[in-house]
Amino acid sequence: MSPNCRFDAVIHFAGLKAVGESVQKPLLYYNNNLIGTITLLEVMAAHGCKKLVFSSSATVYGWPKVVPCTEDFPLVAANPYGRTKLFIEEIARDIYRSDSDWKIILLRYFNPVGAHPSGHIGEDPRGIPNNLMPFVQQVAVGRRQALTVFGTDYNTKDGTGVRDYIHVVDLADGHIAALHKLDEDKIGCEVYNLGTGKGTSVLEMVAAFESASGKKIPLVTSGRRPGDAEVVYASTEKAERELNWKAQYSIDDMCRDQWNWASKNPFGYDTSESTK
Ligand code: UD1
Repeated sequence: MSPNCRFDAVIHFAGLKAVGESVQKPLLYYNNNLIGTITLLEVMAAHGCKKLVFSSSATVYGWPKVVPCTEDFPLVAANPYGRTKLFIEEIARDIYRSDSDWKIILLRYFNPVGAHPSGHIGEDPRGIPNNLMPFVQQVAVGRRQALTVFGTDYNTKDGTGVRDYIHVVDLADGHIAALHKLDEDKIGCEVYNLGTGKGTSVLEMVAAFESASGKKIPLVTSGRRPGDAEVVYASTEKAERELNWKAQYSIDDMCRDQWNWASKNPFGYDTSESTK
């Protein structure tokens, strides 16, 4: 590496993230997510770059006994995908224990949704979307007929699962805040939740998207999806206090920006599809 080309820090977002696929193809997940991370850490160490921000996930809280989730909750993994996040967190803690020059921030994402307000950058999953909002979006643009609601018998306000949805722009800002934190003297290996601290049900999300898009989202109800938790939302206190960061966007903002992206790019980045 040329001396003019030094890296100050690395933000490591790369990873496979489909829970069902990880159950079918665990080695693919361990190879890509774990080996990829180990290789990255080795290269960083070899070049004296020891500042890392890593994308972890609220999946490490499993089905929490109480909410909001605080960073000191016990950690579990319910599937190979979740295990890769948990293992990488443990690897990061071990690295810091072995070499206190490292400064590492693990960010536990809750449920990122929305799109860049410009409408030019958004999520474009391949195949059938696993996650709620990409699926809702594809129903709204006519690519899928109806949303299947997984579980209507949860002990929640309307029987559907509750999650902490966070706008991707807020999530991105959380990374900038983490990078600034890495400049402080004593960091060690720290973990922060990135969420809003608010729980929203599946039906509330659908209603918000319907009003943002003016489209009706037909629903089909079905049983619970295996492995799904009932209610998961973040405590955001630690991130607010120590990163000086707080999510700004509301559920309506998330739906507005996601619809802006979807209506401008109904087939995502695939322009050939849009002419079919
Ligand atoms: C899921 C993963 C989680 C991962 C995250 C990545 C599972 C069990 N969990 O989180 O490990 O970190 O994605 O983004 O897959 N829902 C429907 N119909 C759908 C899709 C979802 O009703 O077609 C419901 C779910 O039951 C849940 C809520 O919508 O109550 C959110 O689901 P989803 O967007 O998949 O996120 P998580 O399950 O929270």
